[in-house]
Amino acid sequence: MQAKNKEHISVMAEEMLHYFAGSQLKVFFDGTLGAGGHAKRLLESHPELELYIGCDQDPEALCIAKEELKPWKDKVVFIHSNFSDLDKQLKKMKVRSVNGFFLT
Ligand SMILES: C[S@@+](CC[C@H](N)C(=O)[O-])C[C@H]1O[C@@H](n2cnc3c(N)ncnc32)[C@H](O)[C@@H]1O
Repeated sequence: MQAKNKEHISVMAEEMLHYFAGSQLKVFFDGTLGAGGHAKRLLESHPELELYIGCDQDPEALCIAKEELKPWKDKVVFIHSNFSDLDKQLKKMKVRSVNGFFLT
């Protein structure tokens, strides 16, 4: 991802929000955080979220997401990793389960 690409539009954001509507999300795993567009929408719509784990293999994407998600900095943990290491990462954080996740 280009660091200057702040115009990225998150695909199917409405559908994603609709899918999680009514769910009580406390812990969420986002395996493809990107610039944080989906994360921002979810964090706005689900103030009950306590921990948002944002993972991406691209350090530039994580830098952009950190800026975008500053208002939720106390809830978001950024992980530089491949989402296939989900198990390892969650174990490291002592997270035993999540209420939702997506990879898109
Ligand atoms: C389309 S963007 C994500 C869009 C983002 N969810 C949003 O809110 O707009 C795809 C991202 O997935 C990341 N990615 C792709 N495959 C990955 C993998 N196996 N593990 C971690 N990140 C991955 C890419 O680095 C890229 O930042």
